[in-house]
Amino acid sequence: MYFYICIIGVLITVIRIIWGITGSGDRIDEILETMIHLKEMDGLKISVVVSKAGEQVLRWYNLLERLRASFDRVQIETNANVPFIAGPLQIGKYDLLIVAPLTGNSTAKIVYGIADTLITNAVAQALKGHTPVYVYPVDQFEEPIETESPDGIKFTVHPRTIDLENVNRLRNMESVTVLTKPSEIVDIVRRNVHEES
Ligand SMILES: Cc1cc2nc3c(=O)[nH]c(=O)nc-3n(C[C@H](O)[C@H](O)[C@H](O)COP(=O)(O)O)c2cc1C
Repeated sequence: MYFYICIIGVLITVIRIIWGITGSGDRIDEILETMIHLKEMDGLKISVVVSKAGEQVLRWYNLLERLRASFDRVQIETNANVPFIAGPLQIGKYDLLIVAPLTGNSTAKIVYGIADTLITNAVAQALKGHTPVYVYPVDQFEEPIETESPDGIKFTVHPRTIDLENVNRLRNMESVTVLTKPSEIVDIVRRNVHEES
C-alpha cells in the first residue's frame, strides 16, 4: 500500500521544466551548477534550450560539454522556431519556463514584444499559453558587476540605464518573475513542485 502511495506521490509531483540559456558569461558557471544540483537532488526532468550566443558563450567558458553531459535533452537554436518549442509552450506542455542567464539583448526584446530568437519566442509563447516565466537578467542592479572572462581575467562591467529600465519593465509584465540571484531558482522550482503535489 505504502509503495503505491509513493508512486502516486512521485507521479503527481512531476513538473515539466524548460530552461533557456542566453549568451551571458556573467554567473553562467554558478547557474549551470545550480541547475545540475536541482536536477540531481530533486530528480527533475529539465529540457534545455540554448540561444546561438548562449552556445558560443558556453563553448568559450568550456561549459558546453558539462551541460550536455548533465542533461538528457539540450537543444541549440537554429532560428526562432527551430527547435520547435513554441508549440509545446503554447499548449501548456511545460509547467514553467526558466531563463537564466538572461542577456540585456533578450531582456530588451522581451519587454518590447519581440520574439525573433528561440528564447524570446519561447517567452512570448509561454506567456500566451499562461505558463509562468522566471528570468534571471544579469544586468539588473546599478552596482558595477565584477565578472571574469573565459581566460580568467577579472573585469568590471557597468550596467547601462537602458538595461536597468528594461528589467523594471520585465518586473511589471504579467506572469513574469524576475529573480535577483541564481539560487532563487531552487526556491521557485521547489515551491512549484510543492504546489503541484
Ligand atoms: C564571452 C561572452 C560573454 C558575454 N557576456 C554577456 C553578459 O554577461 N551579459 C550580456 O548581456 N551579454 C553578454 N554577451 C553578449 C551577448 O552574447 C550578445 O548580446 C548576444 O547578442 C545575445 O544574444 P541572445 O540574447 O540571443 O543570447 C557576451 C558575449 C560573449 C561572447
